[in-house]
Order: sequence, then C-alpha cells, then structure tokens
Amino acid sequence: TQIACIFDLDGVLVDTAVYHYQAWKKLANSLGFDFSHAQNEQLKGVNRQRSLEKILNWGGITKTAAEQEELAALKNSWYVEMISKMSDTEVLPGSLKLLTELQAAGVPVALGSASKNSGLILERTGLSHFFNAIVDGNSVTSSKPDPEVFLKGAELLRTEPSNCVVFEDAAAGVEAALAAKMAVVGIGTAENLPGADVVIEDLSKINLEKLKALLQHKS
Ligand code: G6P
Ligand code: MG
Repeated sequence: TQIACIFDLDGVLVDTAVYHYQAWKKLANSLGFDFSHAQNEQLKGVNRQRSLEKILNWGGITKTAAEQEELAALKNSWYVEMISKMSDTEVLPGSLKLLTELQAAGVPVALGSASKNSGLILERTGLSHFFNAIVDGNSVTSSKPDPEVFLKGAELLRTEPSNCVVFEDAAAGVEAALAAKMAVVGIGTAENLPGADVVIEDLSKINLEKLKALLQHKS
C-alpha cells in the first residue's frame, strides 16, 4: 500500500494547546471577561485572527481591524514567550515512536498546521528532522476547515489524497481532512471529533500496520 501521513501539530504531536489557552485567557481577562474550557475547544485548529474574532464575540466586544491586529499580536507575544521555553519533554506520548517508525519505513510525512509558529515549536521540541514537507499558517490562504492545508501537504509529498492519513485533535481539522478526501485519525474523544475514521487517546495507540489497514478499509 502507498501511504503518506500528515500531522497537525498543536495537540497532536506537542502539548501547546495549554499555552494557546493561557494566552487567550489572559487577553480575554484583560478585556474584562472570561471563557470556558468548552469554548476553548472551539478554538483548536482555528487560526489566530479567527480565534480572536470568536473570543471578542463571546465577550460581546467590538474592535476595529487595527485594534484586532494589535490584540492578536499581543496574544502572540505572550504565546511565543511560553513556547520559546519548550523542550522535547513536551512532545506528546507516542509521537516520537510513530514518527521514528514512519521514517524508518520510508513513509512520506508532512506537517499540516494552522500555526504561524510551527517552525519554532518543531525546533524547540527536536521534531523538525522528521518532516519531508511543512505546510503551516504561513503557507495557506484558507484555514481549516478548508482542505487547502492538507491538499498542499499531499502535493508536496507528491501523492494522492486517497493515500493520506491525517492526524487531528480539532473538529475543524477533521472537517478539513474529510473535505480533502483523506482518512482521519482523531486524537482525543469521539464526541469532539465527529467524522473521524478512528479516535484514539494519543499516538501511542497506533502504528504503521494499523494505519495501512485503515487506508485499505477506506478504499
Ligand atoms: C493551531 C491551534 C490554534 C491556533 C492556530 C494558530 O491550529 O490549534 O489554537 O490558533 O494553530 O496558531 P498561531 O501559532 O499561528 O497563533
Ligand atoms: Mg491541533
């Protein structure tokens, strides 16, 4: 079987979701309101600008485009400060083992992330060398749930969408992968990830053999 893998970054390979949450919370609090953990779930996989729009909406606050840009930059400065201190201890369970297995087997691997900070995160956590292609927030024009990020990944890996397995922890990302006609492994809980072909707790629960079986089952 031909197989290629496309990984989301935040919440799949590394534990950055908690930093995004902390930084957005700090911003919301500075504006005089708060948002819940359940609301935060809706921010996963959603790009920076769109996340801010949602948060301001929850707080019932209107800001001009220029003000929004400033607020997004402020949140990002706090976020970058946090991720600059990351290390390989923040790589999520099973990531290293699976990436190592895929690399040893010669399976093409791409990153498919909405983040504009993916380069820094991969470098800090020592994962850069596992990727044959990187598609992130700096290289797409439409963000998840649009399939662009994953279609570009397949293109860079010189393979067809039907050969690709996407790993996602966000509802918007699962939607994007399905729109790209790819198989999807959800990371987290099934109720948060409708449409995923399989949902697992973390990457330690899967291996290349299971991924091949999943693709075969789909075709
Ligand atoms: C990922 C995260 C989102 C984040 C987005 C953009 O998809 O799940 O929470 O908003 O990346 O990240 P950035 O680092 O560009 O602000
Ligand atoms: Mg994610």
